[in-house]
Amino acid sequence: MKRSKFFTGIAAAGILTLTLTACGEGRADSGGGSGSSEGALVGVAMPSQQLERWIADGANVKSELEERGYKVDLQYANGDIPTQISQIENMVTSGVEALIVASIDGTTLTSVLETAERQDIPVIAYDRLINGSETVDYYTTFDNYQVGVQQGTSLLTGLGILNENGKETGEKGPFNIELFAGSPDDNNAGFFWNGAMDTLQPYLDSGVLNVPSGQTKFEQAAIQGWLPANAQSRMEDLLTVGGGAELDGVLSANDGLAIGIISALTSAGYPKDDLPVVTGQDADLASVKSIIAGEQYSTIFKDVRKLGERAVIMVDDLLKGEKPEVNDTETYNNGKKVVPAYLLESEIVTIENYEEVLVDSGFYTAKELK
Ligand code: BGC
Repeated sequence: MKRSKFFTGIAAAGILTLTLTACGEGRADSGGGSGSSEGALVGVAMPSQQLERWIADGANVKSELEERGYKVDLQYANGDIPTQISQIENMVTSGVEALIVASIDGTTLTSVLETAERQDIPVIAYDRLINGSETVDYYTTFDNYQVGVQQGTSLLTGLGILNENGKETGEKGPFNIELFAGSPDDNNAGFFWNGAMDTLQPYLDSGVLNVPSGQTKFEQAAIQGWLPANAQSRMEDLLTVGGGAELDGVLSANDGLAIGIISALTSAGYPKDDLPVVTGQDADLASVKSIIAGEQYSTIFKDVRKLGERAVIMVDDLLKGEKPEVNDTETYNNGKKVVPAYLLESEIVTIENYEEVLVDSGFYTAKELK
């Protein structure tokens, strides 16, 4: 079946944009609450500098905090769990009054966060939930399940199964696709996968979509550490396992993986101007350029400027003894408690709407995308 990239995700993005209503619930159950936060030191722990988005996240959070008069200890852990633990230990020792943590593997931080709690240091989980710990006070992230729904939807739109309004076209395929999930130690990866698979499953069941390798389980599709090189080698293997079937689409959980997948496809002889529909996430510069060049099909834009701002508002509220605003008190159970969360919206980006979404909003300049 010939691939059709006829339809774009732009209207589907509109349809799927969720409406999150802030309900203002939450608990100010941690933090100094002295009402005086002037000049306080805030620790910001980020997972790595290997991925563009975390560099942007760190820079945004730091400048937002500084604008509000805070001092900032920003650390990147190079994707290494012991490094992240010791960075947070050092932050606690050096007298931070609040912590913002984007964990590598949230389950490994229980002990250091207990130390923080004993010192009445509030902890905000940033983007990724910290699992297995009582001591996480608040969480801010994007609606991660919805990100997965958007990834699945943009794959269907790119293949021509859905039209620009998100309606079925009657296109029956069958289309050959392969599936790539994120790192199993990242709590978000399961949400992305579930959102995408709930969207794709009806088409897998009806035979409109087919996975030549038969690898349709999260454990089979997951890429440890979100490493692009691992995605590349898995894609190379799948092209062999799949018996050489021509691929029409690849569900890729983020842009880093998409770059690895596209490299494997082009090395295997797929022409750059007629690649399978490949999805992504993060609107990384390299992937946006690839979308403009007609290679990668879509990405999911998560405006990390808004995420940084939200985390900083939470810290500011807590240190002033106020209750941070949240809009979700059900979804994010970390095994010990449901962590009150503020979820932000994400958006599908394709060649059709990148200018409007990424350039007009000032996320990238037109020059950067040249
Ligand atoms: C983030 C994604 C990112 C991935 C790899 C996830 O937790 O939500 O935006 O692509 O980690 O760093």
